[in-house]
Amino acid sequence: MTKLSVNINKIATLRNARGGNLPDLIQVAKDCERFGAQGITVHPRPDERHIRYEDVRNLKKIVTTEFNIEGYPSKDFIDLVFEVKPHQVTLVPDAPEAITSNNGWDTIKYREMLFEICQSFKKEGIRTSIFVNPDINMVRNAKLCGTDRIELYTESYAVNYPHNPKTAIEDYFNAAEEAIKQELGLNAGHDLNLLNLAYFAKNIPQLLEVSIGHALISDALYLGLEETIHRYLKELE
Ligand code: PXP
Repeated sequence: MTKLSVNINKIATLRNARGGNLPDLIQVAKDCERFGAQGITVHPRPDERHIRYEDVRNLKKIVTTEFNIEGYPSKDFIDLVFEVKPHQVTLVPDAPEAITSNNGWDTIKYREMLFEICQSFKKEGIRTSIFVNPDINMVRNAKLCGTDRIELYTESYAVNYPHNPKTAIEDYFNAAEEAIKQELGLNAGHDLNLLNLAYFAKNIPQLLEVSIGHALISDALYLGLEETIHRYLKELE
């Protein structure tokens, strides 16, 4: 069964818009878990425009499911992950000013750097995942970076799905096969939503986890958080 990890960055964005503590990020994380989410994901950025480093420390104290911290491995980020020791760290190559993650790692060019970082996290008992495009070569080389898992960047799937689901999933299907061949665990995320999630999960049965933020929080405005999480979980059944 594929786990649903809810990315709560957007809750922090909303809170930060007014400076107070509404909505309460900690309460939302607890409620996501109460409503059935099997994980909580955060993506702290250097400018702390949504999740703050302090949020990550506070979340660690209350998250009872899987805690996943994603981000670019700057020194501050690495120090934070060492301090907090989440279950999983997901490394993304995005520049600090990027609006959101917009590409996977070049696992050939950055192999040495990623290998060193993955080793140091693994020594601390933190599972590693690296964000990659659905490219067989990048997946194969991800193995040489010493990571436990990869997260497939699903933006192109989401863009192409409404036009032709079958062609939209093709590269992902092949990338997933390669990941299994390389004995890499498989996660996925970005732009997944209630329309495209079931088809992805059905066609990539090896999928261990999806992390979903933007669409899920947007759906919650209409459906409420509890109903929304139930609907996402149902898509993954
Ligand atoms: N995975 C990674 C690496 C991300 O950076 C993000 C966005 O923060 C997500 C998954 C979730 O994407 P979305 O908000 O579109 O669901």
